[in-house]
Parts: sequence; structure tokens; C-alpha cells
Amino acid sequence: MTKADVLLGLQWGDEGKGKIVDVLTPKYNIIARFQGGPNAGHTIEFDNKKFILHTIPSGIFNKNKINVIGNGVIIDPYVIKKEIDRLVEGGIEVGDNLLVSRKSHLILPTHRLLDAVYEKAKGDKKIGSTLKGIGPAYTDKISRNGIRVGDMEKTGFDSAYNTSRERHIKTLIMYEKDFNSLLIDGMPFPDYEKAWFEALEILRGLKRIDSEYFLNKALDKNRTVLAEGAQGTLLDIDFGSYPFVTSSNTITAGMCTGLGIAPARVGKVFGIFKAYCTRVGSGPFPTELFDDVGQRLRDIGNEYGSTTGRPRRCGWLDLPALKYAVMLSGVNELMMMKADVLNPFEELKIAVKYNINGKLTEEVPFDEVNINVQPVYKTFKGWQSALDPDGNYDNLPVELKDYISFIEDQLNIPVKIVSVGPDREQTIRR
Ligand code: GDP
Ligand code: IMO
Ligand code: MG
Repeated sequence: MTKADVLLGLQWGDEGKGKIVDVLTPKYNIIARFQGGPNAGHTIEFDNKKFILHTIPSGIFNKNKINVIGNGVIIDPYVIKKEIDRLVEGGIEVGDNLLVSRKSHLILPTHRLLDAVYEKAKGDKKIGSTLKGIGPAYTDKISRNGIRVGDMEKTGFDSAYNTSRERHIKTLIMYEKDFNSLLIDGMPFPDYEKAWFEALEILRGLKRIDSEYFLNKALDKNRTVLAEGAQGTLLDIDFGSYPFVTSSNTITAGMCTGLGIAPARVGKVFGIFKAYCTRVGSGPFPTELFDDVGQRLRDIGNEYGSTTGRPRRCGWLDLPALKYAVMLSGVNELMMMKADVLNPFEELKIAVKYNINGKLTEEVPFDEVNINVQPVYKTFKGWQSALDPDGNYDNLPVELKDYISFIEDQLNIPVKIVSVGPDREQTIRR
């Protein structure tokens, strides 16, 4: 039985999922996103060109591949229109190679406003949301008030839109009387709403499918599928550091519900992590560095958000968190990203345990948000040299290979790809 593989972020997102999905795409027929929405920002670089995708799967740059936006994804027509425009400007074909599930839900302009007022009301407890309307749109889905892509085909679409809009406005007024003046992507609400409706026509022009049937029939015919995760395990709605999380399941289980692929049909699970850690937005981060080492990681790694431009918080690799992520998703192959960022460092650290009030543990604690989690580090010698990607793993500096071997031994899973730069070509496979 042909099974669908999945690639997931094992940290707080931005591990480099877009780059690796693009690198792996030649081996697959279909690439499918299964959760999240425009909170994601997936960067792909090749031939001196750089693209950032938010909703569209990262397989779009390879000719003759099908890209599916699955039922678990939420779509903002305004954002996807801009994405398509940029791709087309860059000479990338977008047509029948992009299919959208009828069951994926829409992000409405008022979801964006709700996200903004909810976040503001949280004050210093704010989540650091990307403010793309993710929480409010998934809330409507779960509370059975959502509008789906397939509903655009029905006559009652306008009235469903107006009903949601009115309901959202009642809530908005409680938070912000003058909600009309709140800006969405630099536009006051009425202007944004107009642009949103214009963009809806582009979404209507995309091919809409029952993606669960499409994908399962494709697997029946031995066509290969790679599912592309968004965000990361530590932002998972159930297993992340709640409430500082996103609103979807970012683990392998999310692929099953977000595409309609049964657990028995899940094939390889690729787990992707940075050689260190970053987090954008609020919430616990045990290995965060507030000193100049953290700033060096940020500068050398260019750690600024792909979606919001915000500086990312930086710190050392966290093994207890990585073990947790591997456990939750049943990861069986690892990919280590951004090894090159560590090139100049004399000394590197990996957290191997946590010290919580004098007790050592390798488990991520329930109340991580309110307790003091002190990492216990193992120190490594840096390699302090450039990595010349001749594609040969054996030629990497011995200190880097020791660093990787240690991670493999701890997790008991092989590291199959080492990424040494943002470009497609800067990828070492084993
Ligand atoms: P994603 O959300 O997981 O797809 O990751 P992002 O695109 O948000 O962030 C990853 C960033 O790191 C992007 O700017 C990539 O171009 C860049 N990147 C990916 N792999 C590497 C690498 O191996 N080395 C370096 N220096 N940059 C990388
Ligand atoms: P990719 O797919 C990094 C973070 C936000 C915030 C929290 C909730 O590019 O890895 P939301 O907008 O979902 O309400 O934000 O989650 N976040 C991400 N951080 N990468 C992402 O996606 C993220 N998507 C959401 O910064 O802390
Ligand atoms: Mg990203």
C-alpha cells in the first residue's frame, strides 16, 4: 500500500520546512498542506530568487506536481491572491497545479479584526499572534459557525457572510467601538473588505476538489504524497505551551484530520529542526539566550519572521523538547537545518535535561508557563570553519559530525539531511 509521507517542524516553527519540501518535491507527485493558514511563512530560495509562501504548498516551484490545500487549512482569499500574484510575477505557473479542498474554511475580514482586539485585550499576556485571523477563524469552524470554500458555490454565500459579519461586529464593538478605523494590512476595515471580496474571485477561479477522495484515490494508484506541516510541535494547540500556541494540531495526527488520510496510510515522518532554537511571539523558551550569543545567532541566522518581520528569540538546542516532539509525531527521519549559522561559534551547547526546583527531568512539564525551567547543558566544541557544500557528508568538520551524532544517539533516529544554507543546493543528504 502506498502511504503518504509527512514533514513536520519539531520546534516553534520556521525550521526551514519550505526549503526542504521544495528539495524533496521531485520525489513526489502531490504536495499537500494540512493545517494552519497565512500565519505560516515558508521561504524557498533557488537561482538567486526568493519566495515566501503562506498558504500554497512549497511544491509549486516544481513543474508537473500537484499542490493541494487540504481541508484542515484555513484560507484568506486576500492573502492567497497576493501569493499567486507574486508567484506569477516570478514566472511560476499557478493553474491546474493548485487544488483547494471544498472543506477548508475561510478567514473573513472580521476574523482579522477579532484577532487584533482579542490580542490587545490580553495586554502583557499577549500571545504574539501573527494577527492573520487564525484563532477566530478556527473558533468559528469548531463552534460550527464557519464558512467553507465549497460554500462559495452555493447561493446562500452572501447571507452566510453577512450573518458571520454581524455576529463578529457585536463582539468587536464590546472591545473597540471604533473598529472601522482599525487597520488590516494598512487598510481601514471597509477598504480591506472590498479588497477581500475582489480576491474572492481569484479563489473562485481555483479548482476546488473533495481533497480526501482525491488524495486517497491517488494513493490507491500508487501516486506519492508529501504532506507539508506548518508551525511546529511546540505551537500545537494540545501539546504546545498553552495558551502560547497556535490553533491547530501541528503533529502527525493533524495530517490525518487535515487531509482525511487514515493513520495506517501514514508513511515516513520527517522531523525538521534547526541546529539551535528560535521562537517568535510570547511563551516559555527554556534555552533562550538574552546575551550577545543570542544576538549573534539572530544576526548570523537572519532570524527575523518571514510573515511579520519580527525579530525571533534565539537560544540553544533543547533536547527534552525535541524528544517530546519526536514522541508525539512518531518521527523516523531527522533533518537538521541552519548548521552554517553555528560556523563561527567557539563553543556550542545543547540542553540535555531540565532542572525544575532542584529536580532533574527530561520531560516537558505541564505548567511550563509558570515555573522556572533551568536547562542543564552539555558543551560542544565549535567547528569554526565555513561549510563547503560539496554534497558529501563525510567532508563536514568532525566537530559538526560529533554534534549530529550526539543528537542521533539521544533521539535514536538518523539525521538524513543537513542544511548548510538557504538555497536549494545548500543541502547535504546522507
Ligand atoms: P519555515 O516556516 O519552516 O518554512 O521556515 P522559514 O522560511 O520561516 O524560516 C527559515 C529561514 O531560514 C528562511 O529565511 C530560509 O531561507 C532560511 N534557511 C533555511 N535553511 C537554511 C540553512 O540551512 N541555512 C541558513 N543560513 N538559512 C536557512
Ligand atoms: P511557519 O509555518 C513561527 C506563532 C506566533 C505566535 C503563535 C500564535 O512559518 O513555521 P497565530 O498567528 O497562529 O495566532 O500565532 O504562533 N506562529 C508561528 N511562529 N512560525 C510559524 O509558522 C508560526 N505560525 C504561528 O508567532 O507566537
Ligand atoms: Mg516560517
